[in-house]
Amino acid sequence: MTPPAARRRPAADAAPGLGAILGAIPFACAAYARADGALVAGNRGFTDAFSALPGHRDRAQLAAALGVPADADGAEARAPHSGHWYALHWRPLSLEGHDLELLTAVDISARLEALDTHKHQQEKLLFTSRLMSVGEMAATLAHELNQPLAAIVNYLNGSLRLVGQAGGPAQVERALVAARTQAEHASAVISRVREFVRAREPKRDAQDVTVIANTVLELLRLEAERQQLRIDLALSAALPMVYADRVMVEQVLLNLVKNAIEAMREIPAAQRELRIEGRVNLDDEIEVRVLDRGGGLDAAESEQLFSPFFTTKTDGLGIGLAICRSIIEYHEGRLFFEPRPDGGSVFAFTLPRAEGRL
Ligand SMILES: Nc1ncnc2c1ncn2[C@@H]1O[C@H](COP(=O)(O)OP(=O)(O)O)[C@@H](O)[C@H]1O
Ligand SMILES: [Mg+2]
Repeated sequence: MTPPAARRRPAADAAPGLGAILGAIPFACAAYARADGALVAGNRGFTDAFSALPGHRDRAQLAAALGVPADADGAEARAPHSGHWYALHWRPLSLEGHDLELLTAVDISARLEALDTHKHQQEKLLFTSRLMSVGEMAATLAHELNQPLAAIVNYLNGSLRLVGQAGGPAQVERALVAARTQAEHASAVISRVREFVRAREPKRDAQDVTVIANTVLELLRLEAERQQLRIDLALSAALPMVYADRVMVEQVLLNLVKNAIEAMREIPAAQRELRIEGRVNLDDEIEVRVLDRGGGLDAAESEQLFSPFFTTKTDGLGIGLAICRSIIEYHEGRLFFEPRPDGGSVFAFTLPRAEGRL
């Protein structure tokens, strides 16, 4: 029987030029015998990169360990022991009477990382520009609407005075008062939007979702009562703290719950059911879900849902969800819609845990 050392490197011994050639190649490079796929020789780069990988002495086993087909030329593979990525190339080589397959493995980890960073930066840029355009549109709209609304309120007040002095019909007076209430409400909405858009510097720290939810419910208590609607708060006990700007997240939850209340305006009071759920999801994020029993959304609507100024309401602005999504994306979370299987909608958002972020 041949001694193992001699069996391992027959061609290298027989083709003394091989080691020198491999040594001159600046990438991880190795030669395998074409006949049986056994490693014949490898350069320093190859040893550094792959000698820790069991099976690297056999072409098929090496390919299997890297998760690529044994003959895949140009495959990109991740070395499981180091986490580095390699572009693998196989080339036939006949040297001094030996038939070999030459493997080069170029470390592309740095390039992939750069690509990844680039992609991340582009996404960030896209997000920032979206946030700006929503903000700018909201600011412009608020500015444009504020003055005519103030004028409408003034005219209505003037008319009310005249009707009062002339002892005019009570119906007219009631209609004028109702119109003024609406106009004042519209002004209030706009000033809330302006307040939001006035680029408040976000400040993130550890926040308790339960406290945020209770604040929001307090703000909406009157509106819920008026609609004879109970809001169930079903947050799992000991929900971890989130890393977030409290006021911004309050704004998001407020918007979602308001939408849910508005979605149930048309259904019988007994069927109105609004739930807020909170849990830790599979990605270890905190997921807050707002569930309603409204009419839900059809496919076309759910596609446009987050576009600024998309609204199906006569009194809607259509910027609530667009702003909410920007806020949640700023927090590295996701805001999404799901149809509720037994009728209604689910609007959910995720936030990262505060743990390890402070
Ligand atoms: N819970 C919900 N159920 C059904 N439709 C919804 C719900 N929330 C939002 N929508 C739809 O998305 C649209 C956009 O919502 P939003 O951005 O908050 O603007 P607005 O409430 O001013 O219309 C709404 O007009 C409505 O058609
Ligand atoms: Mg809304």
